Amino acid sequence: MSKIKAAIFASGTGSNFEAIMETEHLACDIALLVCDQSSAGVIAKADKYGIPAFVFDAKQFPDKTAYEKAIIDRLEESEVSWIFLAGYMRIAGPTLLNRYEGRIVNIHPSLLPAFPGMDAIGQAYRAGVKTTGVTVHFIDEGIDTGPIIAQEEVAILQDDTEESLTKRVHKVEHQLYPKVINQLLQTK
Ligand code: GRF
Repeated sequence: MSKIKAAIFASGTGSNFEAIMETEHLACDIALLVCDQSSAGVIAKADKYGIPAFVFDAKQFPDKTAYEKAIIDRLEESEVSWIFLAGYMRIAGPTLLNRYEGRIVNIHPSLLPAFPGMDAIGQAYRAGVKTTGVTVHFIDEGIDTGPIIAQEEVAILQDDTEESLTKRVHKVEHQLYPKVINQLLQTK
């Protein structure tokens, strides 16, 4: 039986992309990378794993609907049925949300609903909270909102720097995301 095909959407360095690719017994085949930044490090990582990349420049399209239609065409060509966002810096619109309803998942480096948006690890560090973490959630039209699937806590230690905290949060992300992907797909 062939595996479910999924796409990863990412705009950055792609450490989560890599963690997913390195997972033994992943319950899906990663069929495509979708990326909106032509200089993103994740593109070279996709190349290394032989994953085709759809790299687009949103400015070349009249609006979000138009570029999301182009993305959907490419996803359908690759028979993608699930989307995993990993550092994708765009808010999905109704075109993409409706086509992949209930099958678009994001990872965010905080315990949502605390610290949504950019620089979530820095936000938590500067706020002086004792615990932050990682959230995997279904997306909606908001910024880091939508039903939560899984969370894991990360303690902020007395002698943590933002850098040491960032490392620990990312380590948790890299373990949690593949685990949650497998749990989600195995119950389908
Ligand atoms: C991760 O911290 C993820 O939670 C957030 O963006 C970051 C992407 O990092 N949404 P990377 O590109 O996977 O290294």
